[in-house]
Amino acid sequence: MLGNFVYCNPTKLYFGKKALNSLAGELENYGKNVLLVYGGGSIKKNGIYDDVLSVLEKCGKTVREVSGVMPNPTYAKLLEGAKAAREFNADLILAVGGGSVCDYSKGVSVAAYCEDDVWEKYYERFEEPDCKIIPVGCVLTMVGTGSEMNGGSVITNTEKKMKVGHVFGESVFPRFAILDPEYTFTLPKYQMISGIFDIMSHIMEQYFSGTDDNTSDYVMEGLMRSLIHSSRIAVVDPLNYEARSNIMWTATWALNTLVAMGKDTDWEVHMLGQAISAHTDATHGMTLAAVSLPYYKLIMPYGLEKFKRFAVNVWNVDPNGKTYEKIALEGLSEMKKWMKELGLVLNAKELGLKPEMLEAVADSTLVMQGGYKVLTRAEIIKILEESMKYE
Ligand code: NZQ
Ligand code: ZN
Repeated sequence: MLGNFVYCNPTKLYFGKKALNSLAGELENYGKNVLLVYGGGSIKKNGIYDDVLSVLEKCGKTVREVSGVMPNPTYAKLLEGAKAAREFNADLILAVGGGSVCDYSKGVSVAAYCEDDVWEKYYERFEEPDCKIIPVGCVLTMVGTGSEMNGGSVITNTEKKMKVGHVFGESVFPRFAILDPEYTFTLPKYQMISGIFDIMSHIMEQYFSGTDDNTSDYVMEGLMRSLIHSSRIAVVDPLNYEARSNIMWTATWALNTLVAMGKDTDWEVHMLGQAISAHTDATHGMTLAAVSLPYYKLIMPYGLEKFKRFAVNVWNVDPNGKTYEKIALEGLSEMKKWMKELGLVLNAKELGLKPEMLEAVADSTLVMQGGYKVLTRAEIIKILEESMKYE
């Protein structure tokens, strides 16, 4: 049965070829000072920086830049951005990049005028902001996180060896997001497939929980089928607009809060992945790929019916004459075949995980309550060990 909920997504999306043409109109809603936030320079190589800057100039904006936002943005960098935004008196933060740049910009938006300890308030106590929030707009260049239409802000505290995501409420969602699938064409294959698995993982995290009949589960099966289909095309033909645009839209739907309404969700794969990243700085989607199969094999007996449904409805496994367990295992083995076809990392050793790090990674892993099995510390270590054996 669906639980009670209130649903509102305040982000306005502009999607499609030349979507940047809508930026000028949006900018009219904000004051003169625009803090332009971007990453390590990909947008300078592919021309997106020039496109955005020319719109900002035509609109008469005063621009200050915060560049060098790294994948897995750090808390130290967040404080630097907050100071810059406050001193500049920014009226809008324009994030041009992937999930890291968008997450970072949301963090800056609530940190700039925060009078409390920013880490403790937002990333330990998970409080909502009670200070002025600077509005954020996004121009998305990498697909996967859904950050363009949600309140998520994942930040790494390198001193504490913690990578923590705060899912803020509506006041922190981007006010607008510009999604041009062609802006993602220059992504290296490693990033493209990592993003594809991130999308898959977001859907699975919300699908593998609960036993009730829930509309969201049917929606998610459709999203997963579309993603599997389009990813198989994109991996051999990366400039295929149809596939890349479908993947981009699926990513947004996977984590714009809609499919989580009224149902339980898990998120343990993300907790494991974030703990690995906190110790290795590995690419987000790849950390999820490396732990997913051992995790799902471990929890499968506790949610067998759902795993059977996943196998049949998502992976087209023929259920005739087979036990639920056999069907469910065949589903996971189809998923493994697909992961290999894309070229994802299945073994956490490839991400820099070493046997002597396992205890510390387990200490950094938050244990969630919403999935089919609440993990013990020993199980977390077993999942990591299993991943390190994968071929
Ligand atoms: O920094 P630059 O030079 O721009 O290069 C980036 C970066 O190295 C590059 N890139 C991005 N767009 C490109 C491009 N290269 C060529 N052409 C383009 N068009 O790609 C690299 C990865 O970018 P990043 O933003 O780090 O990737 P992603 O979008 O996967 O974001 C990952 C971050 O988002 C968090 C992750 O934990 C991680 O920190 N997440 C945020 C979530 C949310 N807000 O809800 C949920 C997710 O589960 C996730 O945790
Ligand atoms: Zn993710």
